[in-house]
Amino acid sequence: MKLALAPMATLSHEALRRLIYTFAEPDEYYSEMIHAPSFVNGTKFEKFYVRTGPSPEKMVWQLTGPDRDNLAKAAAMLSGLGGTGIDINMGCCAPDIVRTGAGISWMLKPMDETARLIEAVRKSIDSVSPGKSGPRFSVKLRLGEGKNYGQLLLFCKMLVSGGVEQITLHPRTKKESYSRPANYEFVARLARDLPVPVYGNGDIDSAEKARQYMEKYPCAGLMLGRAAVQKPWIFRQIRETGTENREAQKVNHLENSLYFLEVFREVQPPEFYLSRARRFFFYYCDNFQFGHYIRMKIQRARSLEEIQLLLEAYFGESPKDLFSVI
Ligand SMILES: Cc1cc2nc3c(=O)[nH]c(=O)nc-3n(C[C@H](O)[C@H](O)[C@H](O)COP(=O)(O)O)c2cc1C
Repeated sequence: MKLALAPMATLSHEALRRLIYTFAEPDEYYSEMIHAPSFVNGTKFEKFYVRTGPSPEKMVWQLTGPDRDNLAKAAAMLSGLGGTGIDINMGCCAPDIVRTGAGISWMLKPMDETARLIEAVRKSIDSVSPGKSGPRFSVKLRLGEGKNYGQLLLFCKMLVSGGVEQITLHPRTKKESYSRPANYEFVARLARDLPVPVYGNGDIDSAEKARQYMEKYPCAGLMLGRAAVQKPWIFRQIRETGTENREAQKVNHLENSLYFLEVFREVQPPEFYLSRARRFFFYYCDNFQFGHYIRMKIQRARSLEEIQLLLEAYFGESPKDLFSVI
């Protein structure tokens, strides 16, 4: 079974990957979505989106965009960076993205329009690395507007016949929020009915759940998002489940936080510091008994230095929270 870090805007960057690396890596790191038109036109932030550490060969570059030309051009540019693959985002439901015709809109447009996109991206990847040597071409999607398996299968068969080599399904509809459980039976059915590897994504937040889902809904891989931010050690826990290598490890949360902030300063532009550090700690603080309290303080902090001081003070006051045994 493959394990992948999910693409998460503002979160799936090199600082998170390097923190995960200190425990155990997944097989693949999806990047946060890269906006194809901005990438092609080159903005001052693009270089931060394409950082490859700590394991360049494991990178899967995820693209989002409303138009075929820019997605195809960006795919060629990213193919030159190496890594495991190029992924097209067909699952994002954020209103700003959907409004422009990107994300899940590609599942809802006339199918021949999406088929032409797939053909263009395939050609573009092949033009950089002909044959089987190039990056894998994949798509991440949701169920679509409703829970219609026949329609979903037809859509995925179109993707595969256009040259898509792997599919990740986050099995929720466009409207379903995280509060409702993901419909994993769709993952297992797609995995059975398609000739390419299918990964399941959504709600995996423990090694136990990963094991149960793999047994109940067999598929080629699992992709984890929010849980990997809260517990950057989760890939290690999943890998070690059921093996004799399982050794309890003590995790020091202050050390992790300081390491994250140190790497974060190095790999992100100052313009992103506050919003992105707050986003990381929004999830990471779930490890603490008084997580809501420190999370709220961090959300109001004005600088990375202030975040660091808040964390040091918090662990001074709540020493029991300093360690978790995993
Ligand atoms: C903050 C945040 C940003 C996200 N950004 C992206 C993105 O850039 N591309 C994408 O395909 N999905 C994105 N997602 C969705 C995740 O990849 C994933 O499908 C979702 O969080 C469910 O998985 P989980 O339950 O393991 O978190 C995002 C999710 C979150 C919470």
